[in-house]
Amino acid sequence: MKESYITTAIPYVNGNPHLGHAMDYLLADTLRRYMMYCGKKVRLQAGTDEHGNKIFKKAAEQGIPTQDFVDQNAAKFQDFIHSLGVEYTDFVRTTNPDHERRCQEIWKRLSDHIYKDSYEGWYCEGCENFVTDKEHDENDGICPDHKKPYIKLSEENYYLRISDFKDRIRDAIESDELKITPTFRKKEFLNLLKDMPDVSISRPKEQVEWGIPVPGDESQVMYVWIDALANYITILGYPDEDISDIWPADTQVVGKDILRFHAGIWPAMLMGLDLPLSHNLLAHGFITVNGEKMSKSIGNVVDPQEILAKHGLTPFRYYFLRHASTTEDSDFTWYKYEASYNELANDLGNLVQRLATLCKKNAVTGRKVNKVANADFDSRMQKYEFNFAFDILWDGISELNKRIDTEKPWAVAKEDPAKAKEILEKLVDDLLTIDDRLALFLPDCAKQIEEIFTASEITPPATPLFPKN
Ligand code: MSP
Repeated sequence: MKESYITTAIPYVNGNPHLGHAMDYLLADTLRRYMMYCGKKVRLQAGTDEHGNKIFKKAAEQGIPTQDFVDQNAAKFQDFIHSLGVEYTDFVRTTNPDHERRCQEIWKRLSDHIYKDSYEGWYCEGCENFVTDKEHDENDGICPDHKKPYIKLSEENYYLRISDFKDRIRDAIESDELKITPTFRKKEFLNLLKDMPDVSISRPKEQVEWGIPVPGDESQVMYVWIDALANYITILGYPDEDISDIWPADTQVVGKDILRFHAGIWPAMLMGLDLPLSHNLLAHGFITVNGEKMSKSIGNVVDPQEILAKHGLTPFRYYFLRHASTTEDSDFTWYKYEASYNELANDLGNLVQRLATLCKKNAVTGRKVNKVANADFDSRMQKYEFNFAFDILWDGISELNKRIDTEKPWAVAKEDPAKAKEILEKLVDDLLTIDDRLALFLPDCAKQIEEIFTASEITPPATPLFPKN
């Protein structure tokens, strides 16, 4: 069976993982679990982007050799991903010698589309991106995302001739051969593509020493994006190995800010290499704090470990998968987080406690998980509307709470114990059906619920799943 491949963006390792980084992983993990639920075999890549000046400078600031610095931070990202309950199959580091060598090989294979030219203009080190005069003037010379002044550059660089591929890229996106979700971002990108210039793919070594040398020109190193984008295939072994069993990717998950690199430069690279384009690009929205983008450079980052420490993993996943939108920006505040926790405790925690207690009293024994088709749920998942799919499950949970209230099995038991048992069995069956899909979002909690209601003797948990604050 051909494996399905899901990728996540590889974060820069100039600092600790922050809350914004969690979105890529949670969405990709949910998709992976859903595809596996549908019977597919899935590979999920994650990794770290370890080259470039901001990383080099940060290591120097801390007085640590750059390689040691990136080693430490890459480990932090791996721990972070695990702490989110996310299971990747492949982890790529761009300072890995295999990646570096394969990247140089990729460069050589793209050489027909590469030329050298001089550049004079603006650059944002936070974005690791060149900025047009128009963008510079519109933003008064300051990057709106990083709140830092653009720097003036005057240097010789190698360029990738995007113009060689522009028409084909546009056709692929318009026809959904490369499908961009959400549609408004597809439109936004198609507009951007019209004026997209050739892109710089190298920097002079005296400006950036922490990077992969350009093959055949020791005076230049690869500019971070070409190195970073290549990760999606170098980790599969390209070009040393045949990757046709796994490439193209089913879905590449990226934040909205880096969609243009994935919809512009990356398809150009793939076309230059004669590789097929990925099927889907999912551009998620941003987690904001008080309406502002969270960024290391701005200094308003929320530490995800602090949120995880508060109530554990399930409430974290619940908040960011149900109350954060897959495609729009979503704000985090502690107030909303507490409200979300209480909702989880009241709706799901209480249901489990109450139902398990009633089952125990009425000698209802463990039941089997019933798989029941749910076309609405599937349709939402297939459109990457994970938070709306999650809502469907929650409606089911609310419905079960209502049924307990209206069907009053404890009152029925006094008159007709067999009938009460029947009511409870049906409630447990329906809960287990929901729980089977809840596992895509809240795997640990869903497992616990399944264990409670499939055990030969149903026993309420000694402490509620979500204790009151
Ligand atoms: N290194 C590049 C990606 C290269 S992929 C070939 C990069 N790194 S990053 O650390 O700036 O961002 C990593 C991912 O986190 C991106 O998908 C980015 O959009 C996402 N996010 C960073 N801040 C975010 C939020 N505040 N909210 C949600 N996602 C955000 O870009």
